[in-house]
Amino acid sequence: MGEGAAAEPTNWTGYLAARGYVDEVVAELGSVVAVHDRLIFAEGPPRPSVWTQNVWYAPLRLSIGSIGEAAKALRAIQRNWALYAFHLHRRAHLIEAQLPPLRPKRLPFPTDLPTAPLGSWTLLDANTLIAAQHCSSPFPHGEVEFAENKTAPPNRAYLKLWEALTLIGARPKPGELCLDLGASPGGWSWALHETGARVIAVDKAPLDPKIASMPRLTVLQQSAFALVPEDVGPVDWLCSDVVCYPQRLLGLVRRWLDAGLARRFICTIKFQGETDHAIAREFAAIPGSRLMHLHHNKHELTWTKL
Ligand SMILES: C[S@@+](CC[C@H](N)C(=O)[O-])C[C@H]1O[C@@H](n2cnc3c(N)ncnc32)[C@H](O)[C@@H]1O
Repeated sequence: MGEGAAAEPTNWTGYLAARGYVDEVVAELGSVVAVHDRLIFAEGPPRPSVWTQNVWYAPLRLSIGSIGEAAKALRAIQRNWALYAFHLHRRAHLIEAQLPPLRPKRLPFPTDLPTAPLGSWTLLDANTLIAAQHCSSPFPHGEVEFAENKTAPPNRAYLKLWEALTLIGARPKPGELCLDLGASPGGWSWALHETGARVIAVDKAPLDPKIASMPRLTVLQQSAFALVPEDVGPVDWLCSDVVCYPQRLLGLVRRWLDAGLARRFICTIKFQGETDHAIAREFAAIPGSRLMHLHHNKHELTWTKL
């Protein structure tokens, strides 16, 4: 700890809400201590919050007398720090300038999760800094940025699939079979096919012809809800990006779970209007599954089951 910078525990957990979803995080947490733009503090140990993009564990409160003292105190804890500034921008950036630069790179896909410890900090007021050495995401503010392919895929929807596969640390192996529901125009199908997997692309709308002609891809131009799992047979990955009510997607997921014919799932749950927290809890309660709001998600959540 830097000389003169007094540190004390806060008994809080910090929750950095995904952009635009502060109300969702506050609703999930119930009671909170403070809301600073997207950064929310609540008493006690971490509580479940799927709309949070980065959890700040056991943050410390540091009393700092100067910019130099603040930077020295942070450097004494660990090397890498991400600044979340909600006010006092000039002072915060002067402290940040005295820390090792982060320079996050655009990641290739596939990529392993970074292992270097990364903390988060903010200024509560000119002389009080809140710093969490440990956070839930290895990416600054939970924001994963990929080196995009601007030519092959027909849209950018594949980025959320890349993000989900990166976070779960698994991806289709060459020869595995992926069922891509709501596949048009074909971003996810392209990304799945790139792994060497075989793809069955299902959509009522046609696929981009470039995607439809890929060698290991079969197109079924029909409703995903009319598919009978037993007719399709076993699949290694069931992926869905279908635009539909969450309740309808849950019914589809349950049909495939009951049939025991899909080994792994990656599904986008899309909300229209108000967020339906109750249905999100139903998905989260499915054993062995994980529910998260990805950096590349809009008003939607990504549900995975391995
Ligand atoms: C967000 S887009 C999917 C984008 C796609 N994942 C990609 O990467 O290009 C949603 C898709 O759901 C499809 N959809 C809506 N209802 C459907 C249904 N009942 N069965 C299959 N697809 C459906 C739409 O036609 C639309 O193409």
